[in-house]
Amino acid sequence: MGIENEQSCVQLSKIAISETHGENSPYFAGWKAYDENPYHELTNSSGVIQMGLAENQVSFDLLEKYLEEHPEASTWGEKGAPGFRENALFQDYHGLKSFRIAMANFMEQIRGGRAKFDHERIVLTAGATAANELLTFIIANPGDALLVPTPYYPGFDRDLRWRTGVNIVPIQCDGSNNFQITPQALESAYKEAESMNMKVSGVLITNPSNPLGATIQRSVLEQIIDFTTRKNIHLVSDEIYSGSVFTSSEFISVAEILESKNYPKNVAERVHIVYSLSKDLGLPGFRVGTIYSYNDNVVITARRMSSFSLISSETQHLLATMLSDKEFTENYIKINRERLKKRYEMIIEGLRNVGIECLKGNAGLFCWMNLSPYLKEQSKEGELEIWNDILNEVKLNISPGCSCHCTQPGWFRVCFANMSEHTLQVALERIRKFMDRIRTKNI
Ligand SMILES: Cc1ncc(COP(=O)(O)O)c(C=O)c1O
Repeated sequence: MGIENEQSCVQLSKIAISETHGENSPYFAGWKAYDENPYHELTNSSGVIQMGLAENQVSFDLLEKYLEEHPEASTWGEKGAPGFRENALFQDYHGLKSFRIAMANFMEQIRGGRAKFDHERIVLTAGATAANELLTFIIANPGDALLVPTPYYPGFDRDLRWRTGVNIVPIQCDGSNNFQITPQALESAYKEAESMNMKVSGVLITNPSNPLGATIQRSVLEQIIDFTTRKNIHLVSDEIYSGSVFTSSEFISVAEILESKNYPKNVAERVHIVYSLSKDLGLPGFRVGTIYSYNDNVVITARRMSSFSLISSETQHLLATMLSDKEFTENYIKINRERLKKRYEMIIEGLRNVGIECLKGNAGLFCWMNLSPYLKEQSKEGELEIWNDILNEVKLNISPGCSCHCTQPGWFRVCFANMSEHTLQVALERIRKFMDRIRTKNI
């Protein structure tokens, strides 16, 4: 909700009272319902199960084991550890070199070594949230437009628009072609922005996509790169789920395409990659993100701006140690992928058994579920009606497609990696009973 100036005799800024943070969406309303009555296996088994949070908790044991075995990862870990004082004073916005090298190597490893990252181009930020906003500040002016394919991560409404004054113009995608981004959709979003007298600054894609849980095909990526080159605009690729692709070979990064084309200057200098450890390592609370740009001026400016959202040196030190351990990272990436795939298959099969289909996915911490056959009416209202029943009756918080700006009603994002397998089975059992009730009503 926006803050109302009338309630106070002192005025706040236009940004403070603006509604563009997007927090009045069902995406956040569902979180509130969960907060008020959270499910607990033993103490509140009839509570709301949180399936609206793209959190990865399936591999915590691997991180914990590493930390137990490697006290040197913390500057506090061993009494009188030599790095403590140095680290306590470190505040250089370039970040620890050891961490940037480790991060660049980790990003290469996730891509199966098919792309190279230069640690001098890594800019550190407090998560992908800060990275996306910071890049928007650099590539666009207030009033400009960024073209973003729908459905998209609801947080973009805040991250790209709120403080920057930039607009999001949707690139409309729908189920008729499995939500693929087409050249026609790109062109018509561009024209739409122009018709509203907005200058288009760039295209922002998420690959693998949140909320679709699917990677973007090479041919589609090439079309997007061609489009942005032809229009002379930027391309931001948010690759925050790149390590959560179930099979590494199924993910093509824009970095890989640029490498295969030998980084032609007119193409590469408009491309910027966003990454963070919030999803692949399951560490959103550590606030570790990065911008990787092929454009020197963007790297320099982003580094200056990163002063507003630095990562603590203790966190950098810990992760530099952890990510430099090749044996650990290889094992982690492999096991984490296998576990996510197993979870994905468990939920897809459970839903299919009760007559619910999902978009074919290959990545991420969620599936994109199609309830359109069960809507009373094919509209946003019909979608919100069933979402309301699922939230209040079935007590599952899932995210309605409209909160991700999906124009086709009936799609929902369902997260599966922020809970135990047992809780997931409880959720599936609740859905089964709900579907039985729907069918009985319709007989
Ligand atoms: C596509 C996408 N970008 C950015 C973010 C924000 O990530 P972070 O926690 O690193 O700020 C998310 C989190 O859900 C996301 O899904």
